[in-house]
Amino acid sequence: MTSPADLTLVSNDELSDEERIFNELIANEQRIEPRDWMPDAYRKTLIRQISQHAHSEIIGMQPEGNWITRAPSLKRKAILMAKVQDEAGHGLYLYSAAQTLGITRDEMMDQLISGKAKYSSIFNYPTPTWADMGAIGWLVDGAAIANQVPLCRASYGPYGRAMVRVCKEESFHQRQGFEILLTLMQGSEEQKRMAQDAVNRWYWPSLAMFGPPDDQSPNSAQSMAWKIKRFTNDELRQRFVGMLVPQAEILGVTLPDPDLKWNDETGEYDMGEIDWDEFFQVLRGNGPCNAERLERRRTAHEEGAWVREAAAEYARKQALKTKAVA
Ligand SMILES: [Fe+2]
Ligand SMILES: [Fe+2]
Repeated sequence: MTSPADLTLVSNDELSDEERIFNELIANEQRIEPRDWMPDAYRKTLIRQISQHAHSEIIGMQPEGNWITRAPSLKRKAILMAKVQDEAGHGLYLYSAAQTLGITRDEMMDQLISGKAKYSSIFNYPTPTWADMGAIGWLVDGAAIANQVPLCRASYGPYGRAMVRVCKEESFHQRQGFEILLTLMQGSEEQKRMAQDAVNRWYWPSLAMFGPPDDQSPNSAQSMAWKIKRFTNDELRQRFVGMLVPQAEILGVTLPDPDLKWNDETGEYDMGEIDWDEFFQVLRGNGPCNAERLERRRTAHEEGAWVREAAAEYARKQALKTKAVA
């Protein structure tokens, strides 16, 4: 398989016309569309990345959905419902984008509910207090934005275009999370403690969302050569922390990293080591809520079967009617 990263090994005449056109499109910052030829590995990488991303949006509805019935006011309930609904929409755009690469929605759903597919391990942490809604919006949606803004320029057209819309909604999510924390930090001592505790629990998992350190991320170089990914995991993580520090000051919360400090020489923040053992444990399915999240998804899928059947039957009847008229 030839890819831009291998080009030094293969002279241009050894490439097929299709491969040459693909490489030129990538080199010229043009987009690859579903009708275009693409290397198998490019297609497979995108199917894996986009479907995992879609699963994360859908599973990500659960930790916050958990608080819709207990939101502290009607206004907070309406905002949270809109936010969780947005995440469902993100999942749908992304499943549709993945389908343009030749995988079906049913195949992706099977991979998710059978436990074969991965999704972001951040959603396997529990949400014991209302302040978790603030910390998730501020930190988890914040990390999602840092990751996804560069994906708006991903070389695969349907993915990049889906990201443009997703990012607009994510920035609303982050602001609503920040505002929940700000309100709590201006409240009673107990509310302040609750906000700080939620930030302490979500800070490290949100940094882990950017993936393993660059020297342990074997697929990154290829994804960057294909212009799916534009920055490395460590670059994005660093940028995110740089954004959080001034926001934490406004909130009046501390970030739970004693090694976090500005480094004049590098012009960046130095930070402590992420507990990667914990990250990989959660990724392997041993997080506090893995089983619960999957079970809930499986049940919702089974209980929703009649809706899918009814919709398919309705579509069949409509098609028959159109045919009769024609
Ligand atoms: Fe989302
Ligand atoms: Fe979001």
